[in-house]
Amino acid sequence: MSDLIAKALEVLHEGGLVAIPTETVYGLAADASNPEAVEKIFSTKGRPSGHPLIVHIAQATSSDELSDDAWRELLLPWVRDISPAALALAKAFWPGPLTIILPKAKSVLPQVTGGQDTVGIRCPRHPVAQDLLARFHGGLAAPSANRFGRISPTSAEHVREEFADQHIMVLDGGPCEVGIESTIVDLSRWDQLGYVILRPGAISAEMIQAALLGAQVEMPHQISQQLDINQPRVSGSLSAHYAPRTKMFLYPSGQLASVLPSALKSKNKLAWVHFPSEASVDLDYLKTQKINVVEKILPTQSDELARQLYALLRQLDQENYDGIAFEDLPTDSAWDAVKDRLGRAVVGSGS
Ligand code: TXA
Ligand code: MG
Repeated sequence: MSDLIAKALEVLHEGGLVAIPTETVYGLAADASNPEAVEKIFSTKGRPSGHPLIVHIAQATSSDELSDDAWRELLLPWVRDISPAALALAKAFWPGPLTIILPKAKSVLPQVTGGQDTVGIRCPRHPVAQDLLARFHGGLAAPSANRFGRISPTSAEHVREEFADQHIMVLDGGPCEVGIESTIVDLSRWDQLGYVILRPGAISAEMIQAALLGAQVEMPHQISQQLDINQPRVSGSLSAHYAPRTKMFLYPSGQLASVLPSALKSKNKLAWVHFPSEASVDLDYLKTQKINVVEKILPTQSDELARQLYALLRQLDQENYDGIAFEDLPTDSAWDAVKDRLGRAVVGSGS
């Protein structure tokens, strides 16, 4: 066993926090069965209590025919009523970037669930996370390893920057492969609301629907009137989130010149973030306005932008622009998850 994993296990068993790599973003992990350890997550992040945490579990190791039983055994300490739908999704997407909300078992700490009767479970596929979980013999409660409301970390360096003033052990697993947080699907209220995506991610509604043999899967806006919006079941559902400090705005392709805020029109330093196809006529216009423009070209594939987005937002923030102009993303559903994060970053930016 690597010395670092052994050290991380020691810290976790003693009730400390360890930042861990996952394929989505880095997490700030604590023993999910230790209330004091879980409280430390909230105080370290500055996260309001009542925001539930995801419990991360090890993967099933048995062969295909046995895997229903193997997943059931792994879920049993956390989940009451393990439905066929839950097992179908575990088999289809775990280990991987999917969190499933299920009715919680009695023993799950209220600090983990935010006092709710449900629990979010995820089995991450990053090999370092899996190695740690396999040896930990328990669940790790882990939110993204950033201060509350800020950009999620996609490298060990980001985590160190976030908590520079605190001694937190960081397991470096390299840059995150997916780059945005897991898809969250709520199976716990199917009798009233059906299956609901609470947060879009790399596992799409269509993929979940296919794994559930065509069952209807709703997006949150389709049922928003029925959800209690006063209760932040999903902190990622707050409209301002994942936010850079520099004010950022989205503009429709080809129309930067016509929508540029007047505050940015004199000798300002502007980051112009756009796809390669975007017309250069805007650049000529910006030059005539004596705006100091720095261009950043976006990747044309949605999964590639997801991988790069948070590092790009952090970099833009550090380069001290007066504003960030971001070309709006294409409308097709492949862009839903990254669009969701970008939209929240825009709303929360500038504060
Ligand atoms: O990809 C991810 O999911 C990352 C990595 C570290 O696993 N984790 C992550 O955690 O994004 P966090 O805490 O930043 O976001 C988890 C979201 C929160 O918005 C929380 O409200 C929601 O999951 N959540 C957790 N348990 C829930 C529950 N029982 N019901 C509804 N939402 C829940
Ligand atoms: Mg988060």
